[in-house]
Amino acid sequence: MYPLNRNRRLRVNETLRGLIRETVITPNDFLVPLFVIEGQNKKEEIQSMPNYFKMSIDVLLKEVEALYSLGLKSVLLFAQVDEKLKDNYGSEAINKDGLMQRAIKSIKDKFPSLLVMSDVALDPYSSNGHDGVVENGLIVNDITNDILSKMSLTHIEAGADFVAPSDMMDGRVKAIRTLFEKEGYHNAGIMSYSAKYASCFYGPFRDALDSKPGFGDKKTYQMDIGNRNEAMNEVKLDIQEGADIVMIKPGISYLDIIRDIKNNFNIPISAYQVSGEYAMIKSAAKNGWINEDQAILETSIAFKRAGANFIASYFAKDVVKLIS
Ligand code: PBG
Repeated sequence: MYPLNRNRRLRVNETLRGLIRETVITPNDFLVPLFVIEGQNKKEEIQSMPNYFKMSIDVLLKEVEALYSLGLKSVLLFAQVDEKLKDNYGSEAINKDGLMQRAIKSIKDKFPSLLVMSDVALDPYSSNGHDGVVENGLIVNDITNDILSKMSLTHIEAGADFVAPSDMMDGRVKAIRTLFEKEGYHNAGIMSYSAKYASCFYGPFRDALDSKPGFGDKKTYQMDIGNRNEAMNEVKLDIQEGADIVMIKPGISYLDIIRDIKNNFNIPISAYQVSGEYAMIKSAAKNGWINEDQAILETSIAFKRAGANFIASYFAKDVVKLIS
């Protein structure tokens, strides 16, 4: 009770604040999303994600080396697929010599100890820009699961450590896990996007991969933004189906969900600070309206404080430079 207790006593200087700080971030807390494109010596800035680039495999290898030397040892790969290769079934997704599969192999050949995760969803491969096969204007669940599990297998065969299904079909974790077991890949990891909301914050990402839905929206598979209990249900099922890590996405608007999961389950949690959040911080900072470095650190710490074990973040490199 005041004046016997004065909370400000613990805030008098940085040393004391550092001593009692409950949440800290280190390079171990970050997963770096990377966009791969076809070609040689290509590095293209994503227009709505200033200072973030898509890279051909040769350039990507140099980038990975730079990340590794900063202590960033986990990456999450996304591939931009040629428009000509897209169809309703996302057939290119299961091509063993596809861009994603080649990227995984090249990275693992050169950096075997780097942790490689790969995105699994049909949208970058779909002529409809949806995460699943379309029939009569509907996204069909079970046929999609079959393709997603085959796609996942090609990633693991190429050397990926983890697949990261981001599609939100029901039962896809089970389908993928069952195929991995059948093929003897007992240590292949699954990081499931368990609670992925139908959010407006994925806009810049869809620009980057040219993967906007061709019709409608993603609300019949991604979660309703108003729901909280439903996220618990999604996580429970994904754990039962064999997920190793669950992801919450987006980001900073869903910290309550991260905390709920932390309090209710014993499973590692990842959070995704998505493209729209990156774009918001970048554009406000460019106008001088917020301090970019502080915004990056503050939001990163917030994810960990909420209960995330690690964060997929386009700011990973910036954070590491800021904290070193
Ligand atoms: C693909 C996928 C998306 C993101 C990750 N995987 C887009 C979407 O679901 O529409 C978004 C990532 C970001 O915005 O940074 N299913």
